[in-house]
Amino acid sequence: MEEMRRIERAANALAELGRPEVAVILGSGLSGVFPLAEERTLPFTAIPGFPVPSVAGHAGEVAVGTLSGRTVLVQRGRVHFYEGHPLADVVLPVRAYARLGVGALVLTNASGGIAHGLEAGDLVLLSDHINFLGENPLRGPNLDPVGPRFPDMTEVYDRALRRIAHGVAEELGITLKEGVYLATLGPSYETPAEIRAFRSLGADLVGMSTVPEAIAARHAGMKVLAISCVTNLAAGVSPSPLSHDEVIATSRRRAADLGRLLNSLVPRL
Ligand code: HPA
Repeated sequence: MEEMRRIERAANALAELGRPEVAVILGSGLSGVFPLAEERTLPFTAIPGFPVPSVAGHAGEVAVGTLSGRTVLVQRGRVHFYEGHPLADVVLPVRAYARLGVGALVLTNASGGIAHGLEAGDLVLLSDHINFLGENPLRGPNLDPVGPRFPDMTEVYDRALRRIAHGVAEELGITLKEGVYLATLGPSYETPAEIRAFRSLGADLVGMSTVPEAIAARHAGMKVLAISCVTNLAAGVSPSPLSHDEVIATSRRRAADLGRLLNSLVPRL
């Protein structure tokens, strides 16, 4: 199958960097938060089949290094569905990591806060998601060597990993909330009416990433944890207009705490 060959080619290129057990994908404004020891890196452009990000604030490289004795992969930057890439390309990195033998995936993102009580700067573990993209990365012929046709999504974000994350956050004195993330296509931010609708659907957070990767990772049998940085209150929750600059500025402001959390958490996954 052509798609399996594409995944294998990417995985073979990444194998030159090492054999990671855990992978971390860093989102908007978060690329700098998580340096590893003895890093070896490849830019996305040097990995066959990897889609190249176009949005400002995403460097687009993969690093493999060590952290407290574990071999860890960090992806700095990601592509989004709104950039025009097919979802098969958006999730190709995740599938390549699964093929490499990565068993646990940590996704990070920036989001707008919908739930009352959330504030800009909050770090929130995803407890579940709502796929509002109108598309699914598993559409099309099933990749039987990757996973089943109809994978279960009862617990996308692993309960045991979430428990570990809460414990580590508490040790570090970092407040970590939990919430349901709704993925929209973007790239326009939502209207206040859309945010009211999403709240009534059960969404606490809204963003434009993460869900395709989480679905593909569960399909491939990886355990998934996702941490969102609430970079702004969602449209209409906040009286002021939304801006990408605010998203990046808040991510950068919270980068140190997220980096500390990842440093202690990732070796324990
Ligand atoms: N909406 C959608 N995506 C986002 C937001 C938002 O308010 N903030 C950061 N990413």
